[in-house]
Amino acid sequence: MSELVVETQDLTKKYGNFTAVDGIDLQVRKGEIYGFLGPNGAGKSTTIRMLLGLVKPTRGDARIFGLSIRQSPMEILKRVGAIVESPSYYGNLTAVENLEITRRILGADKKEIDRVLEIVNLSQWKNKKVKNFSLGMKQRLAIAQALLGNRELLILDEPTNGLDPAGIHEIRQLIKNLPGMLGVTVLMSSHILSEVELTATSVGIISRGRLLFQGTLEELRRKSENEICIEAHPQDKALKFLESKGLKVKARGNRLFIKKNSLDAAALNRALVMEGFDVTHLSTEGKNLEDIFLEITGGDAI
Ligand SMILES: Nc1ncnc2c1ncn2[C@@H]1O[C@H](COP(=O)(O)OP(=O)(O)OP(=O)(O)O)[C@@H](O)[C@H]1O
Ligand SMILES: [Mg+2]
Repeated sequence: MSELVVETQDLTKKYGNFTAVDGIDLQVRKGEIYGFLGPNGAGKSTTIRMLLGLVKPTRGDARIFGLSIRQSPMEILKRVGAIVESPSYYGNLTAVENLEITRRILGADKKEIDRVLEIVNLSQWKNKKVKNFSLGMKQRLAIAQALLGNRELLILDEPTNGLDPAGIHEIRQLIKNLPGMLGVTVLMSSHILSEVELTATSVGIISRGRLLFQGTLEELRRKSENEICIEAHPQDKALKFLESKGLKVKARGNRLFIKKNSLDAAALNRALVMEGFDVTHLSTEGKNLEDIFLEITGGDAI
């Protein structure tokens, strides 16, 4: 098993009686892009703020690079770059001048500025005033800022929020390249399933403060096992017949649904017909990720 860069145990945040983050156990592996997905108000920002030491957990702990955020916050934060709210810039200053301010605060090497500008592909605009940048360019500058000082972990809270489609595309491409290019690990939150699908390698789904799924995108997709959908008459008898064969059958409306697994749809059809049922419909249905997401979150829209 690869090294865990972020690991939380029972991480919890309560505001009065309200539990914003409810005992979550996150596991982010080195070099992956972890998509932290959840509807509005799910607890993504609160979790991220706890990881960054901006909000104190009510219960539980988070370990980053194996160190406890409660015990070694400064040691950890030196190695973490983050975007947590809409980044602020000095519009009248150039990209380089904006980065220089951050560089001085961090005490990072002068060479860092050119390095990060190169990574986010802003080198040719480095002496232009930021107020003339597109939103996508501003966000790239924010990522450059977060990378200053050779960060090993980037935590990005909804990095494409508020961008137009071109900006979204730009930022996604950039994020996707970061682990391969720099060896960094990325933890990014989003409320858009397709965004996580297009960018992340692993996903954690949070809803109402609880982590409902965590795994690779592949594992999430595997949940989309096909179902066989049958219309057979009389339906109640067909349902009993199928159950008597040891199958798990769900009736929805005038259709019966059976988890496909290794079932052979044609054999099932034959068995029903031979038993005297009228089969008026038989199809195999795949669920898309959207359906799986809704199933996991119990219908909370994204
Ligand atoms: N300081 C606070 N005091 C009280 N409640 C809070 C506070 N901060 C967050 N909450 C509540 O905690 C819940 C989780 O908020 P959070 O901002 O973490 O959600 P989110 O997943 O980031 O949502 P969004 O997609 O809208 O950014 C929300 O119901 C929010 O209203
Ligand atoms: Mg948020």
